[in-house]
Amino acid sequence: MALIRTHDSDEAAHLVATGGQLRRVARDMAVDLSTARIPEPGSTPEGLRVEVLGSDSDGIAAAAAAALLPEHVDFGIWSGVDRFRYWRQLLAGQGPCGSVLHAPSRLARDRAGGVVGAVVVTHMAASEWWSGDPWIPEIFVVADFHRRGLGSLLLGHAMRSCSQGGHRRLGLTVSEGNPARNLYERFGFRPFRTTWLIERAARR
Ligand SMILES: CC(C)(COP(=O)(O)OP(=O)(O)OC[C@H]1O[C@@H](n2cnc3c(N)ncnc32)[C@H](O)[C@@H]1OP(=O)(O)O)[C@@H](O)C(=O)NCCC(=O)NCCS
Repeated sequence: MALIRTHDSDEAAHLVATGGQLRRVARDMAVDLSTARIPEPGSTPEGLRVEVLGSDSDGIAAAAAAALLPEHVDFGIWSGVDRFRYWRQLLAGQGPCGSVLHAPSRLARDRAGGVVGAVVVTHMAASEWWSGDPWIPEIFVVADFHRRGLGSLLLGHAMRSCSQGGHRRLGLTVSEGNPARNLYERFGFRPFRTTWLIERAARR
Protein backbone atom coordinates (compact mmCIF):
# COMPACT_ATOMS: atom_id res chain seq x y z
CA MET A 1 0.00 0.00 0.00
CA ALA A 2 1.19 3.52 -0.74
CA LEU A 3 0.07 6.58 1.20
CA ILE A 4 -0.42 9.56 -1.09
CA ARG A 5 -0.61 13.09 0.29
CA THR A 6 -2.16 15.82 -1.84
CA HIS A 7 -3.42 19.38 -1.37
CA ASP A 8 -5.36 19.26 -4.66
CA SER A 9 -9.07 18.45 -4.31
CA ASP A 10 -9.36 17.25 -7.94
CA GLU A 11 -6.43 14.88 -7.52
CA ALA A 12 -7.93 13.61 -4.25
CA ALA A 13 -11.30 13.00 -5.92
CA HIS A 14 -9.62 11.19 -8.81
CA LEU A 15 -7.57 8.96 -6.48
CA VAL A 16 -10.69 8.01 -4.53
CA ALA A 17 -12.72 7.42 -7.71
CA THR A 18 -10.01 5.03 -8.93
CA GLY A 19 -10.00 2.85 -5.82
CA GLY A 20 -8.00 4.84 -3.26
CA GLN A 21 -9.10 4.79 0.39
CA LEU A 22 -9.43 8.20 2.02
CA ARG A 23 -7.60 7.94 5.36
CA ARG A 24 -7.65 11.53 6.59
CA VAL A 25 -8.69 15.02 5.57
CA ALA A 26 -6.63 17.54 7.53
CA ARG A 27 -7.19 21.29 7.64
CA ASP A 28 -4.35 23.63 8.46
CA MET A 29 -5.80 26.62 10.32
CA ALA A 30 -4.27 29.87 11.49
CA VAL A 31 -5.27 32.84 13.59
CA ASP A 32 -4.07 36.36 12.82
CA LEU A 33 -2.89 37.52 16.25
CA SER A 34 -2.76 41.16 15.19
CA THR A 35 -6.54 41.28 14.63
CA ALA A 36 -7.92 38.40 16.77
CA ARG A 37 -9.50 39.04 20.14
CA ILE A 38 -6.76 37.72 22.44
CA PRO A 39 -8.39 35.85 25.36
CA GLU A 40 -7.88 37.26 28.88
CA PRO A 41 -6.28 34.86 31.38
CA GLY A 42 -9.08 32.62 32.72
CA SER A 43 -9.41 30.72 35.98
CA THR A 44 -8.11 27.13 36.08
CA PRO A 45 -10.86 24.50 36.55
CA GLU A 46 -11.28 23.31 40.17
CA GLY A 47 -8.58 20.92 41.35
CA LEU A 48 -6.19 21.47 38.43
CA ARG A 49 -2.99 23.46 38.07
CA VAL A 50 -1.30 24.79 34.95
CA GLU A 51 2.49 24.92 34.78
CA VAL A 52 5.41 24.96 32.37
CA LEU A 53 5.56 22.03 29.96
CA GLY A 54 8.70 20.41 31.40
CA SER A 55 10.18 17.20 30.06
CA ASP A 56 7.92 14.41 31.43
CA SER A 57 7.45 12.97 27.94
CA ASP A 58 6.23 9.55 29.17
CA GLY A 59 3.60 11.09 31.47
CA ILE A 60 2.43 13.38 28.67
CA ALA A 61 2.33 10.54 26.13
CA ALA A 62 0.14 8.41 28.42
CA ALA A 63 -2.21 11.34 29.06
CA ALA A 64 -2.42 12.17 25.33
CA ALA A 65 -3.57 8.58 24.72
CA ALA A 66 -6.28 9.04 27.39
CA ALA A 67 -7.53 12.13 25.55
CA LEU A 68 -8.60 10.15 22.49
CA LEU A 69 -11.76 8.05 22.82
CA PRO A 70 -12.22 5.18 20.31
CA GLU A 71 -14.89 7.17 18.43
CA HIS A 72 -12.51 10.11 17.88
CA VAL A 73 -11.66 10.68 14.21
CA ASP A 74 -7.91 10.58 15.00
CA PHE A 75 -8.04 7.38 17.07
CA GLY A 76 -6.97 5.15 14.16
CA ILE A 77 -4.13 7.45 13.09
CA TRP A 78 -2.29 6.60 16.32
CA SER A 79 -2.54 2.83 16.06
CA GLY A 80 0.94 1.52 15.41
CA VAL A 81 2.59 4.79 16.46
CA ASP A 82 5.01 4.65 19.41
CA ARG A 83 3.57 7.57 21.37
CA PHE A 84 6.39 7.56 23.89
CA ARG A 85 9.01 7.96 21.16
CA TYR A 86 6.84 10.56 19.38
CA TRP A 87 6.57 12.70 22.53
CA ARG A 88 10.26 12.31 23.37
CA GLN A 89 11.14 13.59 19.91
CA LEU A 90 8.55 16.39 19.96
CA LEU A 91 9.75 17.73 23.32
CA ALA A 92 13.38 17.47 22.17
CA GLY A 93 12.53 19.57 19.10
CA GLN A 94 13.30 16.68 16.76
CA GLY A 95 9.83 16.51 15.18
CA PRO A 96 8.81 18.08 11.86
CA CYS A 97 7.30 21.07 13.68
CA GLY A 98 10.60 22.34 15.14
CA SER A 99 11.78 23.30 18.60
CA VAL A 100 9.42 23.87 21.54
CA LEU A 101 8.61 27.46 22.54
CA HIS A 102 8.39 27.25 26.31
CA ALA A 103 6.52 30.48 27.12
CA PRO A 104 3.32 29.63 25.17
CA SER A 105 3.45 25.86 25.92
CA ARG A 106 1.73 24.60 29.07
CA LEU A 107 0.96 21.44 31.03
CA ALA A 108 -2.06 20.82 33.30
CA ARG A 109 -1.96 18.44 36.26
CA ASP A 110 -4.57 17.24 38.73
CA ARG A 111 -4.22 17.26 42.53
CA ALA A 112 -2.33 13.94 42.46
CA GLY A 113 0.16 15.34 39.95
CA GLY A 114 -1.18 13.34 37.00
CA VAL A 115 -1.01 15.01 33.59
CA VAL A 116 -4.51 15.96 32.39
CA GLY A 117 -3.75 18.22 29.44
CA ALA A 118 -1.14 20.11 27.50
CA VAL A 119 -0.58 22.58 24.72
CA VAL A 120 2.71 22.40 22.85
CA VAL A 121 3.79 25.35 20.74
CA THR A 122 6.79 25.09 18.44
CA HIS A 123 8.80 27.24 16.10
CA MET A 124 7.65 25.92 12.73
CA ALA A 125 10.16 26.82 10.04
CA ALA A 126 9.09 29.13 7.21
CA SER A 127 8.19 27.32 4.00
CA GLU A 128 6.19 27.92 0.81
CA TRP A 129 3.01 27.37 2.82
CA TRP A 130 3.88 28.72 6.29
CA SER A 131 5.18 32.10 7.47
CA GLY A 132 7.61 30.75 10.10
CA ASP A 133 5.33 31.76 12.98
CA PRO A 134 4.55 29.46 15.95
CA TRP A 135 2.61 26.24 15.49
CA ILE A 136 0.58 24.02 17.83
CA PRO A 137 1.49 20.41 16.99
CA GLU A 138 -0.40 19.11 20.04
CA ILE A 139 -3.22 20.22 22.28
CA PHE A 140 -5.18 17.71 24.35
CA VAL A 141 -7.19 17.24 27.51
CA VAL A 142 -7.74 13.80 29.08
CA ALA A 143 -11.30 12.67 28.22
CA ASP A 144 -12.53 12.70 31.87
CA PHE A 145 -11.81 16.45 31.96
CA HIS A 146 -13.30 17.43 28.58
CA ARG A 147 -15.58 20.43 28.25
CA ARG A 148 -14.69 22.09 31.54
CA GLY A 149 -12.80 24.92 29.90
CA LEU A 150 -9.26 23.56 30.20
CA GLY A 151 -8.69 23.34 26.43
CA SER A 152 -9.84 26.96 26.06
CA LEU A 153 -7.53 28.00 28.88
CA LEU A 154 -4.51 26.31 27.27
CA LEU A 155 -5.29 27.67 23.81
CA GLY A 156 -5.90 31.16 25.20
CA HIS A 157 -2.56 31.07 27.00
CA ALA A 158 -0.76 30.01 23.80
CA MET A 159 -2.39 32.83 21.79
CA ARG A 160 -1.70 35.48 24.43
CA SER A 161 1.91 34.44 24.91
CA CYS A 162 2.61 34.32 21.16
CA SER A 163 0.99 37.72 20.71
CA GLN A 164 3.03 39.19 23.59
CA GLY A 165 6.14 37.61 22.01
CA GLY A 166 5.50 39.70 18.89
CA HIS A 167 4.31 36.85 16.65
CA ARG A 168 1.67 37.65 14.05
CA ARG A 169 0.17 34.21 13.43
CA LEU A 170 -0.39 30.89 15.17
CA GLY A 171 -1.25 27.71 13.28
CA LEU A 172 -2.38 24.13 13.82
CA THR A 173 -3.83 21.15 11.96
CA VAL A 174 -7.20 19.57 12.70
CA SER A 175 -8.79 16.50 11.13
CA GLU A 176 -12.12 16.84 9.36
CA GLY A 177 -14.77 15.63 11.81
CA ASN A 178 -12.89 16.63 14.98
CA PRO A 179 -15.24 18.85 17.03
CA ALA A 180 -12.13 20.68 18.29
CA ARG A 181 -12.46 22.73 15.09
CA ASN A 182 -15.45 24.55 16.66
CA LEU A 183 -13.20 25.59 19.53
CA TYR A 184 -10.51 26.85 17.16
CA GLU A 185 -13.02 28.81 15.07
CA ARG A 186 -14.41 30.40 18.22
CA PHE A 187 -10.89 31.66 18.96
CA GLY A 188 -10.51 33.09 15.44
CA PHE A 189 -8.63 30.30 13.64
CA ARG A 190 -9.53 29.95 9.95
CA PRO A 191 -8.64 27.12 7.52
CA PHE A 192 -6.05 27.98 4.86
CA ARG A 193 -4.97 24.61 3.43
CA THR A 194 -6.37 21.09 3.15
CA THR A 195 -4.40 17.85 2.96
CA TRP A 196 -5.95 14.60 1.74
CA LEU A 197 -4.21 11.38 2.75
CA ILE A 198 -5.17 8.53 0.46
CA GLU A 199 -4.04 4.95 0.60
CA ARG A 200 -3.93 2.87 -2.53
CA ALA A 201 -2.35 -0.30 -3.82
CA ALA A 202 1.27 0.27 -4.81
CA ARG A 203 1.96 0.02 -8.56
CA ARG A 204 3.86 -3.08 -9.63
C1 LIG B 1 -9.94 19.61 21.80
C2 LIG B 1 -9.78 19.54 23.32
C3 LIG B 1 -8.34 19.83 23.68
C4 LIG B 1 -10.68 20.60 23.95
O1 LIG B 1 -10.46 20.52 25.36
P1 LIG B 1 -11.64 20.85 26.39
O2 LIG B 1 -11.04 21.03 27.73
O3 LIG B 1 -12.71 19.85 26.22
O4 LIG B 1 -12.09 22.28 25.80
P2 LIG B 1 -13.12 23.34 26.43
O5 LIG B 1 -13.92 22.73 27.52
O6 LIG B 1 -12.36 24.57 26.71
O7 LIG B 1 -14.00 23.66 25.16
C5 LIG B 1 -14.75 22.64 24.59
C6 LIG B 1 -15.14 23.04 23.19
O8 LIG B 1 -14.39 22.27 22.25
C7 LIG B 1 -15.27 21.77 21.24
N1 LIG B 1 -15.30 20.32 21.46
C8 LIG B 1 -14.18 19.61 21.72
N2 LIG B 1 -14.50 18.29 21.80
C9 LIG B 1 -15.80 18.18 21.63
C10 LIG B 1 -16.71 17.07 21.58
N3 LIG B 1 -16.30 15.81 21.74
N4 LIG B 1 -17.99 17.31 21.37
C11 LIG B 1 -18.42 18.57 21.18
N5 LIG B 1 -17.61 19.65 21.22
C12 LIG B 1 -16.32 19.47 21.41
C13 LIG B 1 -16.60 22.46 21.45
O9 LIG B 1 -16.57 23.66 20.73
C14 LIG B 1 -16.59 22.73 22.94
O10 LIG B 1 -17.31 23.85 23.31
P3 LIG B 1 -18.69 23.67 24.13
O11 LIG B 1 -18.36 22.78 25.29
O12 LIG B 1 -19.05 25.08 24.51
O13 LIG B 1 -19.62 23.03 23.14
C15 LIG B 1 -10.25 18.16 23.84
O14 LIG B 1 -11.56 17.93 23.40
C16 LIG B 1 -9.36 16.99 23.40
O15 LIG B 1 -8.35 16.72 24.00
N6 LIG B 1 -9.79 16.27 22.35
C17 LIG B 1 -9.06 15.07 21.94
C18 LIG B 1 -7.72 15.42 21.34
C19 LIG B 1 -7.88 16.40 20.20
O16 LIG B 1 -8.73 16.26 19.33
N7 LIG B 1 -7.00 17.40 20.20
C20 LIG B 1 -6.95 18.39 19.15
C21 LIG B 1 -6.23 17.88 17.96
S1 LIG B 1 -6.25 19.12 16.65
